[in-house]
Amino acid sequence: MLKEISYKNLFSLEGKTAVVTGGLGILGKRFCAGLAEFGANVAVVDLDEKEAEAFARELTGRYGRKCSGIACDVSSPGNVKDMVAKVLNEFSEINILHNNAASKSADLNAFFAPFEEYSLTEWRKVMSVNLDGMFLVAQAVGSQMARQCKGGSIVQTSSVYGILAPDQRIYEGSFYLGHEINTPAVYSASKAAVIGLSKYLAAYWADKNIRVNTLIPGGSQSGQNDTFLRNYSARVPMGRMGQPDEMVAALVYLASEASSYVTGQSIVVDGGLSVW
Ligand SMILES: NC(=O)c1ccc[n+]([C@@H]2O[C@H](COP(=O)([O-])OP(=O)(O)OC[C@H]3O[C@@H](n4cnc5c(N)ncnc54)[C@H](O)[C@@H]3O)[C@@H](O)[C@H]2O)c1
Repeated sequence: MLKEISYKNLFSLEGKTAVVTGGLGILGKRFCAGLAEFGANVAVVDLDEKEAEAFARELTGRYGRKCSGIACDVSSPGNVKDMVAKVLNEFSEINILHNNAASKSADLNAFFAPFEEYSLTEWRKVMSVNLDGMFLVAQAVGSQMARQCKGGSIVQTSSVYGILAPDQRIYEGSFYLGHEINTPAVYSASKAAVIGLSKYLAAYWADKNIRVNTLIPGGSQSGQNDTFLRNYSARVPMGRMGQPDEMVAALVYLASEASSYVTGQSIVVDGGLSVW
């Protein structure tokens, strides 16, 4: 006799509250929408309060969930503490954290500078968001989950460049964000560290039934010039960049009970880039 169980319902996020940092980004907005469509109430956390509030209203209008926009610089311990207090004030508990914010930095010349000339100031600026921010938010939200004694799911966004070195040849003739681009070492280093943090916390909070996993996106198409698209796609077994929407299902799986026995793992969504 088959046990009475709905596998489909395991993906439901009905009644859960999710916090998504970097919720206004190219992938971030899709992540928020996916969580809301599967039933979660979503706190959209990003730098700009008005934009976060407007996007939260859009989510509520579309999916009928309680959503809220909250301004928070994740690199600031005080901001992170206030953000968690606001979320608890509005939603009373937190069940899902998508630790996802990352900084490209306003000064693109400094961000994309060659390694030999990379400034420590820029290195620290990026690390303060991509790594310190992950730590601060995981610490504040994970501690809250532990206090609630109901378990939880934390998903942290890394990058394919946290597990692979970028092939420098693909950046020749590239143009994006009004600039010739590359992937700076600080980005790779910060994203590799995210994987270590996820594994550490997975073991640390396993007895509290707080699962911690890493989502590893490959490059998504978002306005890069044709030369870059061609160069990048030639390196990918599937022959193309990802679409931002293609990252969402892996998040829903990791956030939901469908992955109830999965912790400390990474899901790579990269069209096969990392397999050869
Ligand atoms: N887009 C891609 O191709 C790609 C590929 C691999 C990994 N990723 C990773 O996926 C995640 C989401 O990517 P995305 O494309 O949405 O990035 P994005 O740059 O479009 O968005 C990042 C968001 O984080 C916010 N942010 C920046 N600094 C912040 C801070 N100090 N506090 C709070 N919020 C801050 C920004 O305002 C922005 O809305 C990132 O961690 C990124 O590194 C993206």
